Amino acid sequence: MNPVEVDTARRTGGCPVAHGPLSSERTPTGCPVSQRAADFDPFEDGYQQDPPEYVRWAREQEPIFWSPKLNYWVVTRYDDIKAIFRDNITFSPAIALEKITPTGEEANAVLASYGFALNRTLVNEDEPAHMPRRRALMHSFIPEELKHHEPMVRELAREYVDRFIDDGRADLVDQMLWEIPLTVALHFLGVPEEDMDTLRKYSIAHTVNTWGRPKPEEQVAVAHAVGNFWQYAGKVLDKMRENPEGGGWMQYGLRRQRELPEVVTDSYLHSMMMAGIVAAHETTANATANAMKLLLQHPDVWREVCEDPSLIPNAVEECLRHNGSVAAWRRIVTSDAQVGGVDLPAGSKLLIVTSSANHDEGHFADADLFDIRRDNASDHLTFGYGSHQCMGKNLARMEMQIFLEEFARRLPHMRLAPQKFSYVPNTSFRGPEHLWVEWDPNQNPERTQPALRHVDEPVPVRIGEPSKGAITRPVVVESVTPVAEGIVKLRLVAPDGRAMPRWAAGSHIDIECGHPDLSRQYSLCGDPADAHALEIAVLREPAGRGGSEWVHAHVKAGDKLKIRGPRNHFHLDESTRKAIFIAGGIGITPVSAMARRAKELGIDYELHYSGRSRETMAFLDELSALHGERLQVHASSEGQRNDLAALLATPDADTQVYACGPVRMLKALEAHCAHWPEDALHVEHFESTLGTLDPSQEHAFEVELKDSGITVPVRADQTVLSALRAANIDVQSDCEEGLCGSCEVRVLAGKVDHRDVVLTRAEREAGTKMMACCSRACDGRLVLEL
Ligand code: HEM
Ligand code: FES
Repeated sequence: MNPVEVDTARRTGGCPVAHGPLSSERTPTGCPVSQRAADFDPFEDGYQQDPPEYVRWAREQEPIFWSPKLNYWVVTRYDDIKAIFRDNITFSPAIALEKITPTGEEANAVLASYGFALNRTLVNEDEPAHMPRRRALMHSFIPEELKHHEPMVRELAREYVDRFIDDGRADLVDQMLWEIPLTVALHFLGVPEEDMDTLRKYSIAHTVNTWGRPKPEEQVAVAHAVGNFWQYAGKVLDKMRENPEGGGWMQYGLRRQRELPEVVTDSYLHSMMMAGIVAAHETTANATANAMKLLLQHPDVWREVCEDPSLIPNAVEECLRHNGSVAAWRRIVTSDAQVGGVDLPAGSKLLIVTSSANHDEGHFADADLFDIRRDNASDHLTFGYGSHQCMGKNLARMEMQIFLEEFARRLPHMRLAPQKFSYVPNTSFRGPEHLWVEWDPNQNPERTQPALRHVDEPVPVRIGEPSKGAITRPVVVESVTPVAEGIVKLRLVAPDGRAMPRWAAGSHIDIECGHPDLSRQYSLCGDPADAHALEIAVLREPAGRGGSEWVHAHVKAGDKLKIRGPRNHFHLDESTRKAIFIAGGIGITPVSAMARRAKELGIDYELHYSGRSRETMAFLDELSALHGERLQVHASSEGQRNDLAALLATPDADTQVYACGPVRMLKALEAHCAHWPEDALHVEHFESTLGTLDPSQEHAFEVELKDSGITVPVRADQTVLSALRAANIDVQSDCEEGLCGSCEVRVLAGKVDHRDVVLTRAEREAGTKMMACCSRACDGRLVLEL
């Protein structure tokens, strides 16, 4: 076939999309293959150096394509890959550890001579065998168990850094990042520490054998190494059987075998012993090397991390998203299926390029940007998703956090040395073979502050996915201006003069008021179009909880503060025809931003602003200049009050009411809006009305997790969120009191007892989503899409 330009429209229900010139190849379903798809070669340097960039064309134009070189369908978009992970019956993981490149007879004979019989572990096991085994072996991975490994990881990290800190130069991979994860992996598995170099060679051979394309002359050497690895694994296991009482995961498996011999089989144990060493160490070594490379390639970001190590948990997550250590994974189609509109016959093999999904603009805004404050970074698919999602993810996260923290404290002046990065050519396990860094040892902070070598209270490791609430941002106070009696306006700018994060009307920020535990929320009141600064107004409240007193007493121009956000729980419906804005006192802050936006959008609006006296009411002149007749001021000292009954007497289906102010005013509003359409009234909530969980008033129930294939009991004294975390399921959270919407999960069945203030009445009644941090089951069971 001559190369021709083809239609760029996405064809559904049949062929994959074919773009640009066509090759002479055909898919197994008989469709033409584009030239770019035909050229796709994951063993080339282009893929090795940057897999998401290498398949950008596919992600953007031909998201599922047939690769004739690989004999696989290649899937590149986030939603398609997540849908595949979600359904492990139609998309079986059975080929996850199969050789991607079939080897020749000689190599096969070598492997056979070692009795090599790597079979099903967990990662490549089908149902119904997989889930009972996963459940039987999960205990060692739960957060309480993982905590025990933290001191050892930290001690190892310190010792290894000691070895090279005075040299001014190191290859972090060779001198630290391979050996520590290997030592931790062996310790976790309960395997005696052996010759590390030999195990490293074995691991690489296993990677090449499984995901690589060794040349015929290399295949035999690889087969010998893999065969030896297999026999080594068998010997370690035999020895362990003599004394299965140790604390490692493999000993735990041996003990479980006694109770459940048909679930934890001999074949599983031998295969897992070998695959487990690789799964637990190579992934984490590569992930840390990728992370350090990425951070040092962004010196501004590295500096921020060094200055504020509380950013580390989210930085780790963003590194795993942006440059993770597993670039692609595999599934096989068990019955005819469609993915992203493409028909895939039973038997099709899929290379799902998770690293490409992690750069999909459809899921991650500005996906190529390395942003350690990205609040959905932990949605990445580097650990897979669903019933086979990585069991060791929280051990890996812990190790990575500790390594980064030790480097940030002891070697903040480290930089990348000039070098060309090389990778072991393969589709899946990815990290630089060497990572040379350099620094001036005379500048080592601990030469002047020896205590830095060993801080007693390092930044706490976060076991599990990072909390959005922990992501802080430094700001400088540009000005403090009195704007009314007892009210100051703060203008906050970035320390380096860069743009501030974008925000929408109704958003707020949290300010750390002198101590990480004292943080207060303030609505943004400036102009969202002003990219240079964020503005808040703070009323001094002597009877408050101390935040506003602190701001008034201590904050002055030039000070540095830490903020979190902006975040928005108080959205303006920009499609509304009419809006009534009602503000009481300092409640004018979010409302003023909303009214400004309504004006810009040409919404028909009125703004009602009440206060004790004009002297106590901020921004009156500005508001009057901007809104003219639409502004109505109600100052009680002048005998005026906002007659809510009259204002809201006639309900209007096209009008939305937005209010912020004292609780008394909001309560009155609720009563006056009772006859209005559902969800017409929107109020800003800063504090939850939930109170703490009272176990004597609650009942226990179960949540069935459809995607993960497990059922998690929720005790009466537990939230759904904490029960999910204890079961190692990632769910984002922030406020943890039903205010912010971060922990929303989809509900597939069961009646929800909603306790949040985020969902609208209509959403509650639909019952298809809930906030996991506070809402519960009305009855005994909920089914969630997790
Ligand atoms: C499964 C990645 C660290 C143990 C997986 C899967 C991926 C993965 C992609 C397959 C997921 C799926 O099919 O949905 C990673 C990465 C790591 C890491 C990127 C480090 C950054 C670890 C560690 C351990 C571990 C440290 C053990 C201590 C496992 C196990 C499974 C698994 C047992 C199989 C789970 C199952 O199929 O039920 N991992 N892993 N991993 N990982 Fe990890
Ligand atoms: Fe904020 Fe649940 S974490 S609503």
